[in-house]
Amino acid sequence: MRRTDMSKLHWRPAHASDLPAIGAIAARIHPGLPERLEVFAEKMRLYPDGCRVLIADDEIAGYGLSHPWRRHRIPPLDGFLERLPDDADCLYVHDVAVLPDHRGGVARAYVETIENLARASGIAALALVSVYATRPLWERFGFRPVTADAELRAKLESYGASATYMLRDLTEPSSAGT
Ligand SMILES: CC(C)(COP(=O)(O)OP(=O)(O)OC[C@H]1O[C@@H](n2cnc3c(N)ncnc32)[C@H](O)[C@@H]1OP(=O)(O)O)[C@@H](O)C(=O)NCCC(=O)NCCS
Repeated sequence: MRRTDMSKLHWRPAHASDLPAIGAIAARIHPGLPERLEVFAEKMRLYPDGCRVLIADDEIAGYGLSHPWRRHRIPPLDGFLERLPDDADCLYVHDVAVLPDHRGGVARAYVETIENLARASGIAALALVSVYATRPLWERFGFRPVTADAELRAKLESYGASATYMLRDLTEPSSAGT
């Protein structure tokens, strides 16, 4: 796979003023999974530490949004979280999306940041819903698909037919390549 020159790229915390750029990238990359800007904004307000943008030549080229959550619970797409759980046991990666010209190594950098954040917060797992054909990519990072029971399948519906709920247990030695 092509490897982007990471020296020209960096992730930084997302600000409210980044929302139009985040929304434009989301609309381009996820046309079939639309979400309102207010839904992104709420995540940034509730958990700024998990919300970052990828900067390439002073432009926003991608974003990553994560927040504390409960395992086996899936926030509905384009829905508000209302509040973060007091008993969070995972960091839920809501989305990572990068413009095609800037891919190659950048998702890994974002996931490492989120992993460090989880460990520093005493949270022992990462969770996400894999969409499109990204399951092998997440498996590279040590995520494993969770067999979905009827309840989990129902929650996955808004994410499309290919959606797979995946967990990464941070207490297990990582099999993810470095
Ligand atoms: C998902 C996305 C952010 C990944 O960005 P990226 O910079 O290409 O990812 P990285 O290169 O950091 O990490 C991907 C890892 O998986 C590997 N990989 C990439 N595509 C893969 C695939 N289709 N199958 C298996 N492995 C894959 C890469 O080789 C890399 O591993 P390595 O670091 O050991 O070489 C980017 O492809 C994207 O924006 N896709 C569209 C949005 C999307 O699907 N988001 C995920 C929603 S769940």
